[in-house]
Amino acid sequence: MKVTKICCIGAGYVGGPTMAVIAKKNPNLRVTVVDVNQDRIDAWNNPDVTNLPIYEPGLGDIIKETRGRNLFFSTEIDKTIDESEMIFISVNTPTKTYGKGKGMAADLKYVELCARNIAKVATTNKIVVEKSTLPVRTAQAIKSILDNTGSAVKFSILSNPEFLAEGTAIQDLLNPDRVLIGGESEEAIEVLANIYASWVPQDKILRTNVWSSELSKLTANAFLAQRISSINAISELCEKTEANVNEVAKAIGMDSRIGPKFLQASVGFGGSCFQKDILNLVYIARSYNLHAVADYWEQVTTFNDHQKRRFADHIVNTLYNTVSGKKIGFLGWAFKKDTNDTRESAAIYVADYLLNEQANISVYDPKVPAKKIQSDLNYLNTRSVSENEKQITTFNEPYAALKDTHAIAILTEWDEFKSYDWKKIYLNMKKPAFIFDGRNLLDKNKMIKIGFEYSSIGQ
Ligand code: NAD
Ligand code: UGA
Repeated sequence: MKVTKICCIGAGYVGGPTMAVIAKKNPNLRVTVVDVNQDRIDAWNNPDVTNLPIYEPGLGDIIKETRGRNLFFSTEIDKTIDESEMIFISVNTPTKTYGKGKGMAADLKYVELCARNIAKVATTNKIVVEKSTLPVRTAQAIKSILDNTGSAVKFSILSNPEFLAEGTAIQDLLNPDRVLIGGESEEAIEVLANIYASWVPQDKILRTNVWSSELSKLTANAFLAQRISSINAISELCEKTEANVNEVAKAIGMDSRIGPKFLQASVGFGGSCFQKDILNLVYIARSYNLHAVADYWEQVTTFNDHQKRRFADHIVNTLYNTVSGKKIGFLGWAFKKDTNDTRESAAIYVADYLLNEQANISVYDPKVPAKKIQSDLNYLNTRSVSENEKQITTFNEPYAALKDTHAIAILTEWDEFKSYDWKKIYLNMKKPAFIFDGRNLLDKNKMIKIGFEYSSIGQ
């Protein structure tokens, strides 16, 4: 099958950047990203690329180069599906919030809607690519929906999970460690492999069966998150024993079998996927009665919750066991630097806990707007919208946010935080002036010299 037109359903953090890079590297392909969300599509079409719906370093330049040439963003879903030979499904697969598997299983309703939509409108043969992260054996369900249309249209299903990380998405897409393609049809696999081969060396394009591909994605995220929970567990022990977690991480990371990456102790991992994918893995294991497997992986998220709670507890304990009426300045709200994404950010849970203790919180994040911060808290449903509005205030510059605070909590590792005038910040704070560095970002000795009471993770 020759592919000249690609459709990607879902214009989110994965669909947008991934298709932009495919379009950049394959100028002869016409790539259209479709979404039900008109506002999101309008934002992707905004002539000013600083107003794209997602912030991702390097993305704007690629959009400028490709948009209108061979990359398009549209809400014309049915038409785009029908005229494309290859369709990527890149919609969200959040944790279920209702019914069977609530709080654990992946909610596949959006994926199923896509499959039904493709089945309804397709009049020619298609390759359907699972780009969303899906439970192992989902391809079977998609195949069943597509094969029961009653039409003569033939569908090949491939699994092609995405491994990009936010904040480095463009670099990850341009230089992937590997591209994984799982499928039954060798012909379909090669069609997709050829698209990647425009810029990815052949030895980095792995071909597997579809189930290995689906399961590898969940496993990769589980292993990555496990490393963070492992170093965070050691960070707690460091705090009791005067060992330094940064030194321990360096010492173990130099063992080539362990490696240095993903050993940065923190207030806890966030992001839209680690927790959701591990819970999904745990749910799948339990559904096969593999309780030892499920318990093993579940501990990774249980420990992460503990780490976030421990950070917040430490703030309260240090501030003489009460933060009621005290102003705490938050630096950072995004779940990591270089993204405007706040899904499952540790900041949300630390804030919620401190608000329960009646703190007043002032926030500055370089890329997250006030509306988003309020909606993240309102989503938790812990207190009324008006209470959240009263207790938390967002600023668009850091010095005002930190003025008159009793303590500062660093929740995201934005580079700019390091170069602030910390002397000036100190002079404008209540004394003693505390810093709780949830990212081990600042220079401890410098902060202590200025006069701060400084504490970080695992030191
Ligand atoms: P997202 O929420 O940013 O984007 C999903 C988009 O799909 C939304 O814009 C939504 O409106 C759209 N959508 C939902 N149902 C639709 C339908 N029926 N028709 C058309 N559009 C529809 O999600 P995301 O972060 O891009 O994640 C997408 C998938 O990729 C998830 O399965 C996720 O686990 C996986 N993933 C995400 C990342 C990441 O860094 N965010 C990395 C790798 C894999
Ligand atoms: C993660 C994976 O790294 C990607 O490979 C995967 O494609 C993606 O999930 C996904 O499936 O969604 P992402 O969540 O965007 O990417 O970002 P990461 O860099 O993995 O960071 C996740 C969280 O872990 C962040 O809160 C980060 O601050 C934290 N982290 C990361 C640490 O606390 N310590 C570390 O050493 C590394």
